[in-house]
Amino acid sequence: MNKIDEASLENAKKLFSSGDIHSIEVGTVRGLQQIHQYLFEGLYDFAGQIRKQNISKGNFRFANILYLEDILKKIETMDEQTLDDIIDKYVEMNIAHPFLEGNGRSTRIWLDLILKKNLNKIVNWDKIDKHLYLQAMERSSINTLEIKTLIENNLTDDFSLNTIFKGIDASYYYEADEY
Ligand SMILES: Nc1ncnc2c1ncn2[C@@H]1O[C@H](COP(=O)(O)OP(=O)(O)OP(=O)(O)O)[C@@H](O)[C@H]1O
Ligand SMILES: [Mg+2]
Repeated sequence: MNKIDEASLENAKKLFSSGDIHSIEVGTVRGLQQIHQYLFEGLYDFAGQIRKQNISKGNFRFANILYLEDILKKIETMDEQTLDDIIDKYVEMNIAHPFLEGNGRSTRIWLDLILKKNLNKIVNWDKIDKHLYLQAMERSSINTLEIKTLIENNLTDDFSLNTIFKGIDASYYYEADEY
């Protein structure tokens, strides 16, 4: 892990250990920006800022900046009643990919806040294999079944700092440049 990612990992843990997580808006674009800002403040000059350039990963091109703001407003209004609703919202946010970098790590925390609020559960990221997760996310713009199954089978109601820290470690381990 490089120095930026190491520092960001510490920020992510502090977000929870300090209790600052309770000041984050749940399910909104602003909430996601708050998380991104907290994770990458002083590390990326675009911390918390919506991107102004088009980006892609593998063969997938994320939302065009021409429409990004409109898309984000729409995503914010998506339902959060069932697990299905919530994963649909998460998948759309991944397709939007509002930041130049750090989308995965901040959006996974954003997802956990929505799950906790509406279903009183969070994802046990530590139990989800990195390659299965990335495969499911690559596939998710076409079919959400894989990511839904992965997440559904790995929810927990253990909100201890220990479990959250292990989840954050796993989430940061997903970040890799080899794909
Ligand atoms: N080919 C793809 N198509 C759609 N989504 C993808 C693809 N590859 C990766 N993703 C999603 O994008 C995320 C990576 O985006 P980004 O690099 O901005 O975030 P990160 O936080 O730096 O990295 P990571 O999520 O790997 O920790 C992955 O976690 C995954 O959710
Ligand atoms: Mg990345």
